[in-house]
Amino acid sequence: MCWEKPETGGVSMLIILEKILISNLKKSTLNCMTSAKTHASLSVKTVIVPAAGMGTRFLPATKTIPKELLPVVDTPGIELIAQEAAQLGADKLAIITAPKKREVLAYFDRYPALETMLEARGKTHQLEKVRNTNNLPTPIAVEQTEPLGLGHAVGLAEQVLDDDENVVAVMLPDDLVLPMGVVVKMMEVRAQLGGSVLCAFEVPHEEVYNYGVFDIEDAPDYHGDYVVKKVRGMVEKPAVDDAPSNFVATGRYLLDRAIFDALQRITPGAGGELQLTDAIALLIDEGHPVHILVHDGKRHDLGNPGGYIPAVVDFGLADPVYGPHLKKVLREILDEHGA
Ligand code: UTP
Repeated sequence: MCWEKPETGGVSMLIILEKILISNLKKSTLNCMTSAKTHASLSVKTVIVPAAGMGTRFLPATKTIPKELLPVVDTPGIELIAQEAAQLGADKLAIITAPKKREVLAYFDRYPALETMLEARGKTHQLEKVRNTNNLPTPIAVEQTEPLGLGHAVGLAEQVLDDDENVVAVMLPDDLVLPMGVVVKMMEVRAQLGGSVLCAFEVPHEEVYNYGVFDIEDAPDYHGDYVVKKVRGMVEKPAVDDAPSNFVATGRYLLDRAIFDALQRITPGAGGELQLTDAIALLIDEGHPVHILVHDGKRHDLGNPGGYIPAVVDFGLADPVYGPHLKKVLREILDEHGA
């Protein structure tokens, strides 16, 4: 069943965009008068969430359901990403969306009829869950009419930035990086080294062919607790023997505003798409500092069933309501499969 969306949703989201732009203009004037430089360099106001991809690896479900709305236990991946953006202190969530994926933005609407019904029936826990989206950064729809690539999608978000925003975060909604908070660490690295900071994972050497692999060197200027390396370049899905390292890219980027200019200057790369990694490579060639922070937690790739299923099991086992039963059932299933 579908609940009515009387407040925002669909076309009215564009009106919201206009209002936000106006209010941000006011805010940015204020910032300029007070501490624009400090704010601009030390905090992230906008998190870009590219969600306009076709989700072909998740067909047939994605014939009608955007993959960003598939639930991890009961909460869509995109809400988990919005929570991560909130934890970072961002004000705006620039969601890049496709014409046929309006449900993604509608998810962040308010549903008064649903809330009233839950309240009347005393379903306070569910009511709380429904209202969770009210406390997240303000979603702004940015439409990508054709899936021309991640680089193209990210480039479209420049229109929602204020003049004083020198840095943006990009969080891919099909990538869960846990525990939450890696971009906060990446901001600390940027505060020390400037430029752009990317999140990397170390994977076994024989698995590198699945990923974008970093060509790295030591970062002697970094003084801190994290594992940080300077990036010389990147190779997309190399043969195992050609891989320059076993540090691979994941879906968290902290990018200097210079990325938007670089995105204007790249041409279609792998798969005929405008690739974000090509714009980053261009910045590196031009002397812009790019570093990786090697994350020591875990990650789930929600973009395909092979990564999504373990994510649901992981979150399910950690859930106080479903966890104990799931543990028991999983043991039975493992026995049944002789595992
Ligand atoms: P993916 O390549 O993982 O997503 O892009 P996809 O294209 O939906 O996946 P498949 O291969 O067809 O299954 C990484 C992220 O970039 C977004 C996607 O929505 C995903 O979050 N993206 C990709 C865009 O927003 N626009 C694009 O043109 C391409």
